[in-house]
Amino acid sequence: MENNRGQWNSNLMFVFAAIGSAIGMGNLWGFPYKMGANGGLPFLLIYLVLVVLCGVICMGVEMAIGRKTGQSPVVAMSMVAKKFTIVGWFGVLSAFIIMGFYSVLIGYAVRYCVGFMFQLLVGINGFGGATTGADFFVTFTQDVPAVIFFTFVTLLLCLFYVSKGTEGLEKFNKIGIPGLFLILVGIIIYDLFLPGAKEGYVFMFSTKGMEIAGETFNFFKALRTAGGQMLFSLSLGMGAMITYGSYLGKKESIAKNAWIIPLFDTLAAIFAGMAIFPAVFATGNSVNAGPGLLFITMHDVFTTMGTTGNLIGMFFYLLVIFAGVSSAISLMEVVTSSIIDMRAVKEKKSNRTTVTTLVAVAIFIISIPIAVDQLGLAGDQGIFWNLYSYLGAGSQDLLDFYDMLTEGLMMPLGALLMCVAVGWVKGFDWMSEEVTVDNKTWKCKNFFRVCVKYVAPILMAFVLVSLFLSYLGL
Ligand code: PHE
Repeated sequence: MENNRGQWNSNLMFVFAAIGSAIGMGNLWGFPYKMGANGGLPFLLIYLVLVVLCGVICMGVEMAIGRKTGQSPVVAMSMVAKKFTIVGWFGVLSAFIIMGFYSVLIGYAVRYCVGFMFQLLVGINGFGGATTGADFFVTFTQDVPAVIFFTFVTLLLCLFYVSKGTEGLEKFNKIGIPGLFLILVGIIIYDLFLPGAKEGYVFMFSTKGMEIAGETFNFFKALRTAGGQMLFSLSLGMGAMITYGSYLGKKESIAKNAWIIPLFDTLAAIFAGMAIFPAVFATGNSVNAGPGLLFITMHDVFTTMGTTGNLIGMFFYLLVIFAGVSSAISLMEVVTSSIIDMRAVKEKKSNRTTVTTLVAVAIFIISIPIAVDQLGLAGDQGIFWNLYSYLGAGSQDLLDFYDMLTEGLMMPLGALLMCVAVGWVKGFDWMSEEVTVDNKTWKCKNFFRVCVKYVAPILMAFVLVSLFLSYLGL
């Protein structure tokens, strides 16, 4: 039966969509706080090495799998090798779990955006009277119905775009991506003039960071954090790029796209760090404020700007929402397209809007425990909520636990198995045929060959081993 899958209108649209998927809360929220908790520069260096030796490689592998098979992860992986179908399932499960906390985080950004909008337009305190970023953050986190409401709004927005297919995704990204870069650069420039900001650059780009944060460097912890973060930030190891690759035309270059997307994604992460860390020091906040960093610190920064701060704050959080939603739609797309493609294999037709709606409802359900957990502030909530303290490898709260399950475990495993499936089971030539289709040149072919077969799987294995070491308290 015909399965009308759609295709990107141009390579630029694909690149925008893939960058839109890659740049998200992972860059703006995850990267700065993980870097802050792992000593700054050493973390950045490990991260960059992993991007080149693993990120670029897996990006190429996933795009090749997607375009060659023309399918979403589950069907695609079964076509690569029957035994590896499970990798596709892991991907769908990861996407689903990630969305469970991702939608809550974007919901936070929606609340902040609305807060600044109120301050700007109505002239009242949009944050329930709170005067510091930290005060409001704690109050809002504990307001469970409000968090659930904003999560719901976020999911409605995602639903709207995913149900439209590639066309919806394209429209969204065309404005969001350039806008985000613009505002980040604007904030970086503003930060330059803040008193005390210099410390932030020292923290990010020198080895003094660990001293400042009062941390001792733990290589295994930095490696597993950077490894997971890299995959998460690049949307790898769970089939998002297989899905987007499946809509990619044969004329476009996988060889180039595999470098361009990680480049922009990494730039965005570093820019986010440069926007946030100087501000952390200028506003007297703590570098290891954890998940609250993006919200608490930036809220304080915009408050220092007076009335203009309301406008900039509103735009900033609007772009966080843009970045978040363009990633969230790719996560939902993994689940939605997998269901549609699997049904198509069984000769069943699906209504995209119905499938997307059901997926959104399921995500909403698993996001509720995250809201109830209040980033761990709710304390003991019985056996389900305590699961993470048994299995969570040091997870601080339920969000951390969802995060650990996905970027800590399933995504490195997924990335490893995809490389093995392509490099060893199918053989590297299978991938190289796809990359060089239409007589395209591939300058880094040998680099890819070595990395797909050896370097990337070994590095991912290290990331996994260091996760298990953490169970032993290392
Ligand atoms: N890359 C996105 C981010 O950094 C998250 C994401 C992960 C999106 C996996 C799709 C797949 O926020």
